[in-house]
Amino acid sequence: MRIDGTHYRTIWMEDDPGIVKVIDQRKLPFEFSVLELKSANDAYEAIANMTVRGAPLIGATAAFGLYLAAYQSNLKNWCEEVKGAAEKLLSARPTAVNLRFALELLMEKVVCAGSRESMIKELFHLSIRFAEDEVNRSKKIGEHGIGLIEEIYARSSRPVNILTHCNAGWLACVDYGTATAPIYLAHDLGIPVHVWVDETRPRNQGARLTAYELSKHGVPHTVIVDNAGGHLMQQGEVDLVLVGSDRTTRTGDVANKIGTYLKALAATDNGIPFYVALPSSSIDFDLSDGRQIEIENRNPEEVTHMEGLNSETSTVNKVRILPEGSGTVNPGFDVTPARLVSGLITEKGICEASEQGIKALFKK
Ligand code: MRU
Repeated sequence: MRIDGTHYRTIWMEDDPGIVKVIDQRKLPFEFSVLELKSANDAYEAIANMTVRGAPLIGATAAFGLYLAAYQSNLKNWCEEVKGAAEKLLSARPTAVNLRFALELLMEKVVCAGSRESMIKELFHLSIRFAEDEVNRSKKIGEHGIGLIEEIYARSSRPVNILTHCNAGWLACVDYGTATAPIYLAHDLGIPVHVWVDETRPRNQGARLTAYELSKHGVPHTVIVDNAGGHLMQQGEVDLVLVGSDRTTRTGDVANKIGTYLKALAATDNGIPFYVALPSSSIDFDLSDGRQIEIENRNPEEVTHMEGLNSETSTVNKVRILPEGSGTVNPGFDVTPARLVSGLITEKGICEASEQGIKALFKK
């Protein structure tokens, strides 16, 4: 997608085969900066410290991290080093299943039986291909999801109001996004859309990232505090809820950023369609119940403090917002049961959030 007229992806390589570049998302929207990853450990750190985040991008970064492990590997122990890197990368964050999906896919294809050089070559092509496939999955999600927006527009002939949570945009993926893919496509085709952007405490991925990318692409949007969504739904101000997913079970239970479940409850109570847009790399075919999904417990500092731009000094500052000594708990994700999900928008089409629905699209 575009930032000030230049096309970007979230992760890419240029001429140097030892360097993978990513946008440092910790600094957005206040500063646009690019970080160079030169080792598997750099990729691990980038995922763990949220330089990159969002399920599909976490997977793509792990894929490139595996390639960097091979590229940097020792002449003697190259195979052991790549295997060790895969294990470490897998531990970077627990909830997004895309991490496991990417690492298993690449490790399965790369057998340590060849030479170090052939492994480097293979992982180079596989990681680039993986990112490309993720772009195509997002693109297809847009093409399948746009019908929902068109349908609402055909009925109402006024801008379609879509509420989204967290950042399931192109910054969370490699390009286009998941929940935002149908929105960008509709906007580009001239269908008037307006997006309600949940700020998404504690890290504010909605306010900081979704608002940033929608602004840069010129999509009309309004940022709301997380607690405002239910009220807007009651007032008839929301036509459709579109969110992403970090891990969806084969039965259609959806883990996504904390707060998603409350939006699904409010949407259901108000008869508003609640759709989840996700690539197949976010489906965990091993799990049959959302309660089996490991939920990341994050640093209490994300609750006790907030970060923002100090307009007097033009510096980014962190301030404490809680009294000293108050306890906190900070689960990063919640699970929306399949029964509250109107449908899943995938690269293969839209299906019911159920085992039968998912099976019909993904036969293997
Ligand atoms: O903690 P984050 O920022 O990695 O969480 C991101 C989300 O929850 C997104 O909504 C999710 O990855 C789906 S996005 C394509």
